[in-house]
Amino acid sequence: MPRKVYLMYLQKIRMSMVGAAAVLCLVSVPPSIAADGAAAKEFQAAVALTPDPANGVRLYETCRACHNADGSGTVDGNVAAIAGQHYRVVLQQLVDFRHDRRWDIRMEHFVDKHHLTSAQELADVAAHVASLPRPWPPSFGDGNDLQAGSRAYLARCAGCHGATGQGSNASKTPRIAGQHFAYTVRQIQDAADGRRPNMTGTHTRIVSQLSFEEINGMADYLSRLASRD
Ligand code: HEC
Ligand code: HEC
Repeated sequence: MPRKVYLMYLQKIRMSMVGAAAVLCLVSVPPSIAADGAAAKEFQAAVALTPDPANGVRLYETCRACHNADGSGTVDGNVAAIAGQHYRVVLQQLVDFRHDRRWDIRMEHFVDKHHLTSAQELADVAAHVASLPRPWPPSFGDGNDLQAGSRAYLARCAGCHGATGQGSNASKTPRIAGQHFAYTVRQIQDAADGRRPNMTGTHTRIVSQLSFEEINGMADYLSRLASRD
């Protein structure tokens, strides 16, 4: 290849790489920023409203099929226990499922804009979920790693999730005590593998450092704790 042609060829490759990078930026960055902005806006709009409890009961009819009338979820850990979860946490999760910030095909469908049509409806149903008493007991683990699990929990997680896994409404930290064992294991694994995009990088790092025994024991320990606010 003559030198001039070769240089032009190189330049063309470089240009197309720059072009591809520019296109990638255009395609990938703005939608996720837009989604985060839209999610934050929807949360702010809903949290400023006063929930209507009667309408919350009515809207919860759709949720019962999977979460049960008492919000207990399923013992196989497929469906989360949601009763008594903090109001602001429930609201945030619903918003995140609506804006591709949390992934589950069933939830994305049943909390989309056709099912919950406004910020007011989000507030109403979230308040009903938060008002339900957390049923007891959930399903537990095998009991083999409770010591390793409780030690790791108190050292690494209790600072945010609380000594009894009670979480906090003010800081929007989930209550993770009294949850089905298998659900918690799956969420920790999903978080470690980056399948919970709404979590911070710090959170992903913390949970990805846990050993199998620590995850097994921690989820088991938390399932046996009746959390207290
Ligand atoms: C078709 C079944 C189905 C229906 C209907 C459904 N959910 Fe869910 N929900 C699930 C599943 C499955 C999960 C767990 C998703 C995951 O693994 O991340 C979940 C998770 C949740 C969570 C997150 C729990 C947590 O611990 O973070 C909340 C909150 C929730 N659902 C509320 C609702 C509300 C409110 C409704 C009704 C408007 C509803 N769900 C309807 C199946 C359903
Ligand atoms: C810096 C504070 C902080 C620390 C430390 C922390 N978490 Fe979290 N955690 C949060 C917040 C905030 C959320 C809610 C994120 C979201 O919306 O998904 C969360 C969410 C979770 C969830 C999802 C709950 C659900 O219902 O789906 C699990 C499980 C969890 N954390 C486990 C842990 C474990 C295990 C540790 C310790 C190894 C830990 N966290 C350490 C703040 C923290």
